[in-house]
Amino acid sequence: MTTENKPKDVNDDHIMDHDYDGIKELDNPAPRWIMALFYITIGFSILYGAYYFWLKQGDHQDAEYVRKSAVHDEKYKIATVSSEDLVLLTDASALEEGKTIYNEMNCFACHGMQGEGNAIGPNMTDEFWIHGCSFQEVFDVIKNGVPAKGMTAFKGQMSDANIQKVASYILSLKGSNPPNAKEAQGEKCE
Ligand code: HEC
Repeated sequence: MTTENKPKDVNDDHIMDHDYDGIKELDNPAPRWIMALFYITIGFSILYGAYYFWLKQGDHQDAEYVRKSAVHDEKYKIATVSSEDLVLLTDASALEEGKTIYNEMNCFACHGMQGEGNAIGPNMTDEFWIHGCSFQEVFDVIKNGVPAKGMTAFKGQMSDANIQKVASYILSLKGSNPPNAKEAQGEKCE
């Protein structure tokens, strides 16, 4: 085969020098942009490895999960407290906080400003309770609500610690005899 008459091939410029039994090699490099991308990923992996593994700067998956959960719990105040710690609180500062929560969470809209009850919710200052008067029962009603009867479940909006405070506050109202108290509902419970 002669080369003289052969039209010039686009590949001719790329033919490499070596020739083995008539088999030639084309030098056909990848486009620059792909090579650039390739080098960038190598650079990135080095920085990434350094940040997370060698310099130990970044949080690993588990630590990051814990950190983000804490941010979430803080934001939505739904961190849970272990059940042994969920007891009736009687110290003045906790009851004061409970009162603030009572107002901030709009409990008064259905239970009156002083827990005396209104057209919607029951009186919580008397000795009559629909769902029981123990700390645990009051806590559970606030946490899980009584949706069918119009009592909101507050578990998605309040932490257990805050429910504990507001439940303690409510139980501290017993016998306070506020004006305009609603008639007794439920069972007598002391
Ligand atoms: C949208 C109205 C509404 C809001 C807001 C509301 N409640 Fe109630 N709550 C009710 C109703 C209605 C009942 C009575 C449920 C029933 O009849 O079973 C009730 C019942 C209760 C009971 C049980 C009373 C009993 O006699 O056993 C407690 C405790 C209670 N609410 C606490 C709270 C607290 C604390 C808040 C605020 C964090 C709150 N509620 C906000 C409507 C409301």
